Amino acid sequence: MAQVRNAAPARTGTPPAPKPATIRRIGITTGGGDAPGLNAVIRGVVMSARHRGWECVGIRNGYDGLLDPTQRARGLLKLDVDQVRPITKLGGTILGTTNAGNPFAYPCRQRNGEWVERDRGEELLGRIRRAGIDALVAIGGDGSLGIAKRLADMGLPVVGVPKTIDNDLEHTAVTFGFDSAVSFATECIDRLHATALSHRRVMVVEVMGRYVGWIALHSGLSSDAHVILIPEIDYDIEKVAAAIRARYASGHPYAIVVVAEGAKPKGGAHLVRERRVGRAERLGGIGEQLAADLATLTGEETRATVLGHLLRGGHPTTFDRLIALRFGGAAVRALAAGESGVMVSLGAPGVRLVPLARAIRRLKRVPPLGDTICTARDLGICLGE
Ligand code: F6P
Repeated sequence: MAQVRNAAPARTGTPPAPKPATIRRIGITTGGGDAPGLNAVIRGVVMSARHRGWECVGIRNGYDGLLDPTQRARGLLKLDVDQVRPITKLGGTILGTTNAGNPFAYPCRQRNGEWVERDRGEELLGRIRRAGIDALVAIGGDGSLGIAKRLADMGLPVVGVPKTIDNDLEHTAVTFGFDSAVSFATECIDRLHATALSHRRVMVVEVMGRYVGWIALHSGLSSDAHVILIPEIDYDIEKVAAAIRARYASGHPYAIVVVAEGAKPKGGAHLVRERRVGRAERLGGIGEQLAADLATLTGEETRATVLGHLLRGGHPTTFDRLIALRFGGAAVRALAAGESGVMVSLGAPGVRLVPLARAIRRLKRVPPLGDTICTARDLGICLGE
C-alpha cells in the first residue's frame, strides 16, 4: 500500500532514474502568465512534501524573490500546511509570477537607460543553494520549463509542472489552466449569441493564444461559433466574408466569429502591441481589425469583444483542480525517486514523467488534420481556408 502511494510516475523515453539526492527543503516557483490551478499545484507539492519531512519554500515572483534586491520581489515565502489549506479553488498564484524574469536573459537597465539581457544563471543557483533549497519544483510554460531544464543541467534536482491556459506544451495531453480558460470563453460566447441575433450583428470575439489556437478552437466549437480563426491556419478574409454573407442570405442574420490573438490573414503578420527586452512579444488588436474588415466587406453591423486576461482569472474548474493537485503530488514523488530534468505530464493511463528537453523542443500547435479541426470542418464552421 505504502509503496503504491509513494511510487513515482512512470518515465517515458529515458534511462532509469538516478540515486535520490538528500532533500530537506524544496523550492517552488511559478513563472510566466498565471493560470487557474497554480495554487492547487502548490498545495499538492506542500502536502505531499510534508509526509517526507521536507520543508517547502516559495520563491516569490518567478525567480525575482532571489534575484531582485528591491522590496518589490519580497524574497521567499515559507509554505506550511496552514498557508496552503484553502487554496485549491483560488485563481492566480500565492507566490506571484512574472513573465520578464528569465535568469539566463535577465533584463537589466544600463546607465544610459538602455535595456540589455544578462545571464544571471550562476548567481541564481548560488542564491538557491544559500537559501538551503535542495530541489526545485518549477511550475510554468515553455519559457519557465526551459529555465528549469538549464538549472537541472547545472546540477540542481528539478521537476517541472506544465502550466498554461494556451495548452501549447508538447508531451502532455493537456496543461492545467486550459480547461478553465476554455470553459469561461465558452460561457462568454454563449452569451453573445443572444445579443448578436437580437441586433442581427456579426460579433467578433478575440481570445488568448499567442502562437496556437487551442482556446479559440475548443471554445468556438463548444459554443457553436460560425467562424474560428487560429494562428495555425492563415485566413482568407474574402472567404470569411463570403461565409458570413451566405449565412445572412440563408435566413440566419447574425454570426459569431472567434479569433485567436495570434491569427493572421494570408500574406500578413500577427499584430504586435509591444516588444520589450527580456519579454515575449505582446499581441493584440486582431479582433478590432477583423471586425472593421468584415463590416466593410459584408456591409453588416459588427462588434468586437476581447476576452483577454479574463481567461486567466477566476476559479479553476474541477478538472484543472484535480490535475493540478495530481501534478503537485507526482512532482514530489518524482523528486523522492531521484528524478531531475523531467516534467510531470498527463497521458494514458495517468500522470507520467517526460524529459524536460523533449517537452520544450517545440510548441504544441493545433494539427490542421487533427480530429477536432476536422470536426469543425464537418460541422460547416468556416476556418478561413
Ligand atoms: O499565458 C499565455 C498568454 O495567455 C498568451 O496567450 C498571451 O499572449 C499572453 O499570455 C499575455 O500575457 P501578458 O499580457 O501577461 O504579458
